[in-house]
Amino acid sequence: MGKTLKYKRVILKLSGESMMGEKNFGIDPDFIFYLAEEIKEISKIGTEVVIVIGGGNIFRGVAGSKQGIDRTTADYMGMLATIFNGMALQDALERKGVTTRLQTAFEIKEIAEPFIRKRAIRHLEKGRVVICGGGTGLPFITTDTTAAMRGLELNCEAILKATSVDGVYSEDPSKNSNAKKYKTLTLDKAFKSDDIGIMDNSAIDLCRTNKVCVIVFNIYKKGNLKKAILGEDIGTTIK
Ligand code: GTP
Repeated sequence: MGKTLKYKRVILKLSGESMMGEKNFGIDPDFIFYLAEEIKEISKIGTEVVIVIGGGNIFRGVAGSKQGIDRTTADYMGMLATIFNGMALQDALERKGVTTRLQTAFEIKEIAEPFIRKRAIRHLEKGRVVICGGGTGLPFITTDTTAAMRGLELNCEAILKATSVDGVYSEDPSKNSNAKKYKTLTLDKAFKSDDIGIMDNSAIDLCRTNKVCVIVFNIYKKGNLKKAILGEDIGTTIK
């Protein structure tokens, strides 16, 4: 069964917003159960899954600093928000019978293990889904960059960037019906172009210099995550 997998070990990057589902704020348990089911499907076929989640559904560092909170403090608050999300997703996955380990970039030991690279790899080898909470533990760094960094240090083959759109377009498809969807793109082009906002440039640069591919796909379409793992033609592959 493992032979059919195009990617054996991946980072799944989920935005904080995706945790809201249909809501305007916070966590939508129904949507998290949907996500957990999608993740279970790929874990079941032997994919080693690392999850990096944002925290924007609860608190966003940049927004907090615009409202007058010190930027570093606001970023730490955002990191805590990612741990909230990690705990919720861990709970949903475990309820579905998926074994998980939540590891955090800074110690919060009563709640989760600290991030230890070799231990995370061991968990993955044992088929456990590893959820990385707390970003990198450093302010001024996005969760996209966290995903790229964790992807590199955990030897992942691809970063699956879950979004609400079907891939990367030449223009905003909601504004221009002639917008063209790219099937593939180069990381170099994504890095150099101001119009292609897949991830922030530090994240793209890490992928570009270390040759990790990024797949942008629509997580809201059931089965898409598994299709991406099997190498089916969904979304946009950037490599
Ligand atoms: P193996 O060594 O491969 O068996 O891994 P394991 O994770 O099952 O072993 P361990 O005995 O370290 O962990 C058992 C449980 O305790 C798991 O659910 C871990 O997530 C949890 N755990 C381990 N270390 C910590 C920690 O520092 N803090 C918290 N909150 N939980 C921890």
